[in-house]
Amino acid sequence: DKSAWRTDEEFAREMLAGVNPVNISRLQEFPPASKLDPKVYGDQTSTITEQDLGNTMDGLPVDEAFKQNKLFILDHHDALMPYLRRINSTSNKIYASRTVLFLKSDGTLKPLVIELSLPHPDGDRFGRISKVYTPAEEGVEASIWQLAKAYVAVNDSGYHQLISHWLNTHAVCEPVVIATNRQLSVVHPIYKLLHPHFRDTMNINAFARQILINAGGILETTVFPARYAMELSSVVYKDWVFTEQAFPEDLIKRGVAVKDENSPHGLRLLIEDYPYAVDGIEIWFAIKTWVEDYCSFYYKTDDIIQKDTELQSWWKELVEEGHGDKKDEPWWPKMQTREDLVETCTIIIWTASALHAAVNFGQYPYAGYLPNRPTISRKFMPEKGTPEYKELESSPDTVFLKTITAQLQIVLGIALIEILSRHSTDEVYLGQRDTPEWTADTEPLKAFDKFGKKLAEIEDRITSMNNDEKLKNRVGPVKVPYTLLFPTSEGGLTGRGIPNSVSI
Ligand SMILES: [Fe+2]
Repeated sequence: DKSAWRTDEEFAREMLAGVNPVNISRLQEFPPASKLDPKVYGDQTSTITEQDLGNTMDGLPVDEAFKQNKLFILDHHDALMPYLRRINSTSNKIYASRTVLFLKSDGTLKPLVIELSLPHPDGDRFGRISKVYTPAEEGVEASIWQLAKAYVAVNDSGYHQLISHWLNTHAVCEPVVIATNRQLSVVHPIYKLLHPHFRDTMNINAFARQILINAGGILETTVFPARYAMELSSVVYKDWVFTEQAFPEDLIKRGVAVKDENSPHGLRLLIEDYPYAVDGIEIWFAIKTWVEDYCSFYYKTDDIIQKDTELQSWWKELVEEGHGDKKDEPWWPKMQTREDLVETCTIIIWTASALHAAVNFGQYPYAGYLPNRPTISRKFMPEKGTPEYKELESSPDTVFLKTITAQLQIVLGIALIEILSRHSTDEVYLGQRDTPEWTADTEPLKAFDKFGKKLAEIEDRITSMNNDEKLKNRVGPVKVPYTLLFPTSEGGLTGRGIPNSVSI
């Protein structure tokens, strides 16, 4: 009985409205390319062919589907391939995966093909060996397809925890907290603007270093990169670009949105019903308007920014000390104009609040049932003619359970994500401050009030979209509406609420 197995529909939907909705990209070339150095890693181009994509794309030929922006990819190949040889020498057995998906006319995504790759056994310079899997509903092929999806979920859950969550929110907030506390006085307007977004961040990160991300800690035990977890995270940081953390830039870079003057906020989504992006755009621009209103009151001209010595030393420390190994990157804002300041503060607030909420509080709701989203694989795909393949034919569930995360690690992992997904009862949410007298200046107070009202409007909109049956990706077959970017919440395990800061 395969009724508990994850459907293709739900597998794909969660790439738009799940715990890691930040990686799906438009396929920009076919076959998918690799950015790994061919001198070191040989040929890492995808082996997916037009034939593999089949003729299941609403009757469209591949080049037409490609031209109409209907092909998308979840690509974990390049980030993981350099680690596979080492990870697979532990008890974990993983692949580097690419999943190609088709955007159907009803707005949902359908997985077309999964490619699982390993480094060539004769050496890195010989490139990859890859196998390609396509959907199947019957017989042993259906079990193989379920396993292929599980290997993708393993990749995605590790990438989520180490990169989307730890690196891109927890870790990158830290230099901001430190520079702000060291360089801005408590009465400085930018200190007052940012301070609520630092609450408890240093505490939780210190705690994480003690028991979660430390050598031999819970993450190394429960997530597949094992002892290479932190190395992987720090190597991916080399590609981190501050300005790409601006939500519109992120969407454009992933090819899921294009600039369009006729669309609200000048941005058109190529997957219209992409719940994380739809809600995220609203929240991003609400934050940006608030920051703009606030900064315009204190900085009437660019000149004031250039002459604000505290602000300049804050920015210098953040860039040169906080991100010392990236200090010469050309993309850092120069902090000479109000536009620089507004964009910078919006990125900081977005990262600490909405981005973290989107990748943190869905962990238990979306990833608490491990057969749907395993974090480790312990065996490779069974090959035809082997005893494992025979067993897959007779008892697929047994093989599946022997392949994914072991029981003890599952229990440990669930206990962890349950804690991480919980709001404390004294949490302070976006649009709220813990003290009403944080400033005596009337105009900023009015602007803050306006921000709160805008967020309340966004809540109403999210509720009505979640009730709109035309929007198939918001609720999905499992009937869990997407609420991770719904700004407020009560304490507890609610699956919604955007706290001001990274505090768990
Ligand atoms: Fe977190």
